Amino acid sequence: MKPLNVGMIGYGFMGRTHSNAYSKVSHFFDLPYKPALRVICGLVEEQAKAFAEKWGFQSHTTDWRKVIEDENVDIVDICVPNNMHAEIAIAAAKAGKAIICEKPLAMNAAQAQEMVDAVEAAGVANLVSFNYRRVPAVTLAKQLIDEGRLGKIFHYRANFLQDWTISAEVPQGGDGTWRLDASVAGSGVTGDLLAHCIDTALWHNGPISSVNAMTETFIKQRLHAETGQAQKVSIDDACTFFCRFDNGSLGNFESTRYARGHKALYTFEINGEHASIRWDLHDLGRLEYFEHRDEGRVRGWRSIHVTDGDHPYMNKWWVPGLQIGYEHSFVHQVADFLTAMDAGKPCSPTFAEALETQKVCDAVLQSAAEKRWIEIGS
Ligand SMILES: NC(=O)c1ccc[n+]([C@@H]2O[C@H](COP(=O)([O-])OP(=O)(O)OC[C@H]3O[C@@H](n4cnc5c(N)ncnc54)[C@H](O)[C@@H]3O)[C@@H](O)[C@H]2O)c1
Repeated sequence: MKPLNVGMIGYGFMGRTHSNAYSKVSHFFDLPYKPALRVICGLVEEQAKAFAEKWGFQSHTTDWRKVIEDENVDIVDICVPNNMHAEIAIAAAKAGKAIICEKPLAMNAAQAQEMVDAVEAAGVANLVSFNYRRVPAVTLAKQLIDEGRLGKIFHYRANFLQDWTISAEVPQGGDGTWRLDASVAGSGVTGDLLAHCIDTALWHNGPISSVNAMTETFIKQRLHAETGQAQKVSIDDACTFFCRFDNGSLGNFESTRYARGHKALYTFEINGEHASIRWDLHDLGRLEYFEHRDEGRVRGWRSIHVTDGDHPYMNKWWVPGLQIGYEHSFVHQVADFLTAMDAGKPCSPTFAEALETQKVCDAVLQSAAEKRWIEIGS
């Protein structure tokens, strides 16, 4: 196994999921590379140092440019808020590093296009961390669709529901609440949550041709954690949109941070001519499947426990019947990326593929602002 030095920028929520993935991946997958945690970067020196000690990084820094300049770093892993993705990724591409970038790729499609141009000009391996694709049940859904089991697809619907910003006391900006500050996040639930649903939908069901959306900002003003001032809230707190896919099917998507009782309820359901499938993040190891061609007397929704050796990724883990969790999707992501990198092949979703998701997000926000259908150009 060839050594592969990781330079990670951001030690928050995603910094932890990605560090865990690099630490575990070589134990479970046979890979051409063995990742080593070389340097971690984050805003606060003591926190970066403590993170390095806890997770086994060789060094730490508070200056992300040092990560890029480090000749020993092979792969730059971007786990910082959205407004920093482009600058870091473009610099990393110019330095010839492989890049994993957290989602959404950028603040908007124009910026995402610059990032695509940079990685393509440099010819570096690149991946955007839409990790839900690599939950085995979600990958199984893709296999069933590609095998034609659903037949012609009529409907794709997805929800991503949370409830953590209902209180007006939640500030915007700063550590932990940068997602409410549009200048850092780019948008609200559209870029944060619907981007996941859109990425999965484009993967499962192909391109979206037009969208019609509505958004709402329920709490118009919040204190800013950094300035201490009451400031206008510019993110979308909730977004609902419907759309047309190129394959003729209709889409229906909803996301909000105001659905009391829901913490991270990502669900999708796909209805085809012969069969339907549905999935629920809260029960991520199961895929519900209805096959109309079954004999009538026993026809009904099956609940597939996605834990068998012939299910995606599962032969790398325990024994049939034993489930894996959220963090494993990141392990799968690293395994697939390193395998593709060694073969000189792209690993989906690439920056170019994530640009398509970004275009849908932009169109959704434009549609809501202009109260009309928006066609999506390729
Ligand atoms: N794939 C997923 O399911 C998923 C889930 C959560 C977040 N995300 C994405 O991951 C990214 C990070 O989100 P998070 O929840 O981990 O955020 P977080 O707030 O938990 O962590 C952000 C990190 O960025 C660092 N940082 C901020 N500014 C910096 C700077 N100027 N220089 C160096 N470091 C800096 C902070 O020190 C912190 O370590 C976002 O783009 C987010 O959309 C993806």
